[in-house]
Amino acid sequence: MKEEILKLKEEAILEISSIQNLQDLNEKRVKFLGKKGALTALLRGMAELSKEERPIIGTLVNEAKEEIEKAITEKENILQEKEIQEKLNRERLDITIPSTKIRRGSKHPMNLIIEELEDFFVSMGYDVVSGPELETDEYCFERLNIPKGHPARDMQDSFYIDAEHLLRTQTSAVQARAMMKNEDKTPIRIICPGKVYRRDDDATHSHQFGQVEGLVIDENISLADLKGTLELFVKHMLGENSKLRFRPSYFPFTEPSYEIDVSCFKCNGKGCNLCKQTGWIEILGSGMVHPNVLKQNGYDPDKYSGFAFGTGLDRLAMFKFGIPDIRLLYTNDIRFLNQFDRF
Ligand code: DAH
Repeated sequence: MKEEILKLKEEAILEISSIQNLQDLNEKRVKFLGKKGALTALLRGMAELSKEERPIIGTLVNEAKEEIEKAITEKENILQEKEIQEKLNRERLDITIPSTKIRRGSKHPMNLIIEELEDFFVSMGYDVVSGPELETDEYCFERLNIPKGHPARDMQDSFYIDAEHLLRTQTSAVQARAMMKNEDKTPIRIICPGKVYRRDDDATHSHQFGQVEGLVIDENISLADLKGTLELFVKHMLGENSKLRFRPSYFPFTEPSYEIDVSCFKCNGKGCNLCKQTGWIEILGSGMVHPNVLKQNGYDPDKYSGFAFGTGLDRLAMFKFGIPDIRLLYTNDIRFLNQFDRF
């Protein structure tokens, strides 16, 4: 029996030493130490031993049991440690791997222009107003000194919806709206950026484009106010070195009227393809509000005077950002739009 116990112990310790995982180890625990295990079977056989032999064999069995338990516990510790290490390796995070780039949206160049000019005029005390894109003939033309049959209507081929309604051809319509809305006929200082529509169908024009309108009405407003304001505006938008040139022109709602050119910011006035070798680029229409317009919209021209101006937002955006083709502003090519995320 003694040999049997020693053999069993050695066998157990050998088997335990080659175990590779906790589950197999548990099976060995059951096999050697469990209720139906090998050691328990040996203990049962002790009943047949003599009185003298029993304590000796009993001690041997206990020793064997302790040693087997010790081997199992040691193996268990090793395997648990191994398992933790494996888990850590498996779940390791490499925090140095570059992350996938989060795509940010960007503002549309037209909105960038609108926001910039709004900030500029608001800082000078102007209100930003808007008007309807589906406009009446009355506000788009009549109240701006362009009666029916006036040749100036031909300059702005219009989309009429019916005899009295059209898609507005110019943000100037908002001038009349602002004057009529102001029942107390107090001074006005507004800008109105917005969309306008014309029945143009050649390669360089779009049927829809952006304009901004400006209107100032107060006592003693003079051409000097117009010049000073627009000079600040253009320099703010297109650069401090910009020079302005006022050319006499004609608009039915202003008298006198001017077209304003800015010195070419590409060649600094030397002449290039952008300015068609002239050194100047036409940028604004403007003038002193026509007395008829003041009168028609309830303002006394003997008391009040004013200036107005209008410019195309598309052109402004193209100049400012060096955009070569107006269609880029409308086709929503993501490769184009993404370039504006740094502004
Ligand atoms: N409405 C004009 C256009 O679309 C631009 C313009 C010219 C606006 C002179 C004005 C102005 O306010 O005074 O061509």
